[in-house]
Amino acid sequence: MQANYNLKSLNTFGIAAIAAQYVAIHHPDELSQLLPQLQSNSPCLILGGGSNLLLPDYYPGLVLHNCIKFIKVVEERENEVIVRAGGGVNWHEFVLWTLQQGFGGLENMALIPGTVGAAPVQNIGAYGRELKDVFLRLEALELSTGKTRTFSNEDCQFGYRDSFFKQPENRNGFLITSVSFLLTKQKHQLYTHYGAIQEQLEHKQIKQPSPQDVAAAVIEIRRSKLPDWRIYGNAGSFFKNPVISEAHFKQLQTQFPSIPSYPAGTSQVKVPAGWLIDQCGWKGQRQGAVGCYKHQALVIVNHGGATAAEILAFSTLIMKDVQEKYGIELEREVNAISTTLTP
Ligand code: EPU
Repeated sequence: MQANYNLKSLNTFGIAAIAAQYVAIHHPDELSQLLPQLQSNSPCLILGGGSNLLLPDYYPGLVLHNCIKFIKVVEERENEVIVRAGGGVNWHEFVLWTLQQGFGGLENMALIPGTVGAAPVQNIGAYGRELKDVFLRLEALELSTGKTRTFSNEDCQFGYRDSFFKQPENRNGFLITSVSFLLTKQKHQLYTHYGAIQEQLEHKQIKQPSPQDVAAAVIEIRRSKLPDWRIYGNAGSFFKNPVISEAHFKQLQTQFPSIPSYPAGTSQVKVPAGWLIDQCGWKGQRQGAVGCYKHQALVIVNHGGATAAEILAFSTLIMKDVQEKYGIELEREVNAISTTLTP
């Protein structure tokens, strides 16, 4: 356990947050000694890759860093394989490992920052695929009881960037020790319907793509649109894509005929937040150390030295403009840890 630990290199926004206490967990057994403290109601934050997090300058509790790392083939059948990975394994490295073994299923989610253990918390997704599509089960340590619990796909209550673990009453209550995935050994069971992937494959004249080809396309698209957090601190999409009623959408369409949309269930429509923010003129704008990324308006970047309070204030201005122009309330996707607490 370390006191007054600087988390700057452990969060992709690059915020120099100080944790009152920090401990790295490499094996689930290491948690047993910490249980009395974890059950004492003092604040606790579970840290994975720190890629969807907005940290305050000072965190007054204990930061539990999930560093449980292993990858194991649990079961292999003719066409399918079950792979289990530790919660602390880097997500993209895991995706590359599965592809090297010839296992498909994760290729559309290549290059998403973060860890295996954080992936189910917000049901990560990209280019038409979500974690829930390949997820089998997970094991988590319930901090309030010290018990290991197994969660099936259904138990996780996956939604759009949402799960059981994201609900306020469950947040930071479970350390996800391992996740099992059901992957395919069939080379051509691919999901390439997303326009940008098709364009990329056509551009490279690939007619019969392999999972590796799809991953390479995804990596290229992401690199061209999303900033590298090592250069511009960021947490990917800062906002969720809002879902509005069909009636509201139709009304907006008369005023803004080019407004893009995706289907989102009965009488509902999903609108890309990046488009709304872009149309409000925020793309590439900067205030002090905080900015709206020049190639993707959905991403807020730290140009160096920004605090969570400054980033939140900037995002509030964006939300206000979108509300005024479109009558749509944006919801932050990033997990903002309370900034009201001071040392
Ligand atoms: N758009 C603009 N201006 C912008 C950004 C986007 O007009 O600055 C328009 C695009 O032209 C397009 C639409 O908005 O018509 C959607 O943009 P894009 O395809 O880039 O995807 P997105 O909806 O902005 C979502 C996810 C990403 C994921 C991509 C690809 C959310 C909140 N974001 O972004 O996920 O990589 O789709 O599937 O659902 C993340 O969650 O951190 C993340 C990066």
